[in-house]
Amino acid sequence: MKRWPDFVQVKEVGPRDGLQNEKKRISTADKIHWINTLSDSGVKEIEYSSFVHPKWVPALADANEVGRRIKRNPGVRYSALVPNMKGLELALEAGIDGASVFMSASETHNRKNINKSIDETYPVLQEVIQSAKDAGKHVTGYVSTVFDCPYEGTIMPDQVLRVCDRLLEAGVDDISLGDTIGTAVPAQVDQLLSEVLNRYPSDKIIMHFHDTRGMAIANIMRSMEYGITRFDSSIGGLGGCPYAPGASGNVATNDVLYLLHGLGVKTGIDENKLQEAAMFIQSKLEKALPSKSLAYAASQG
Ligand code: HMG
Ligand code: MG
Repeated sequence: MKRWPDFVQVKEVGPRDGLQNEKKRISTADKIHWINTLSDSGVKEIEYSSFVHPKWVPALADANEVGRRIKRNPGVRYSALVPNMKGLELALEAGIDGASVFMSASETHNRKNINKSIDETYPVLQEVIQSAKDAGKHVTGYVSTVFDCPYEGTIMPDQVLRVCDRLLEAGVDDISLGDTIGTAVPAQVDQLLSEVLNRYPSDKIIMHFHDTRGMAIANIMRSMEYGITRFDSSIGGLGGCPYAPGASGNVATNDVLYLLHGLGVKTGIDENKLQEAAMFIQSKLEKALPSKSLAYAASQG
């Protein structure tokens, strides 16, 4: 029985999800150099920054300059996080191919993260999605806390489906399901994906695992068994949501590639080029990043 796909698309979210939670500030010039290196690795999508309020996420306050100055590789979709119409305006000025809107399946996390109830969020995102589509942009809808919420505990699949339905009705091209605090184990992936894939085709679904407890690789394996072929990851395992206590980094792109390439799954990404980008940002952050395959590569010089 074939249990994994021939090709998997990996979206690099390090410059956004990764840096948004880092205390040490990276200069705009270093971000640009880093994103340009990532652009040459064969990755097909990079979430390069976030057009949220700079008071809420100061580490990404230079999103506009980053967007204007990065070299655009025609084979790469450059996307950014956008919470509302103000964010979309700024993102369009800076240049995006894709807008990522976001909300939570959990009421409390939604309020903490974007200062609105779930019901208040829909009309805001509907307008953003419609306007981004009118401007010819790809739109991804992130749904956070799809397994567990740091405030409310277990989240049931029907809470997730309710949000997905509304985002898809509003016109998002695809949905990224976030294990925001990295609590899920494969049985939870089974429970959610069996319901989600009953309702939507697998090519609409992206899985976004944080790796707080080291379960992300197991969860990716499980997701592939359900036919999922798209994953978000962050170089070196950088990251976390500043409004989700206990959330650590995304699953490391380096580790995901080690797994996929070892299984014979193609990604189109050059692992060496990616390690180079990971070493660069690690040196700028002046700390070891969590990725085990990065640590191994670094130990080999
Ligand atoms: P708010 O304070 O409710 O905003 O924040 P508001 O609409 O009331 O506006 C207040 C002021 O902010 C106004 O200015 C607006 O113009 C300004 P004033 O009139 O007072 O001078 N403003 C903005 N300025 C710049 N850019 C904007 C913007 N919007 C309003 N976009 C808001 C609401 C959504 C803006 C705020 O809550 C926010 O920025 N939240 C972002 C939180 C965040 O970035 N969280 C992390 C990302 S999500 C994540 O990591 C999860 C994910 O990875 C998936 C997973 O892991 O599950 C995606
Ligand atoms: Mg995230």
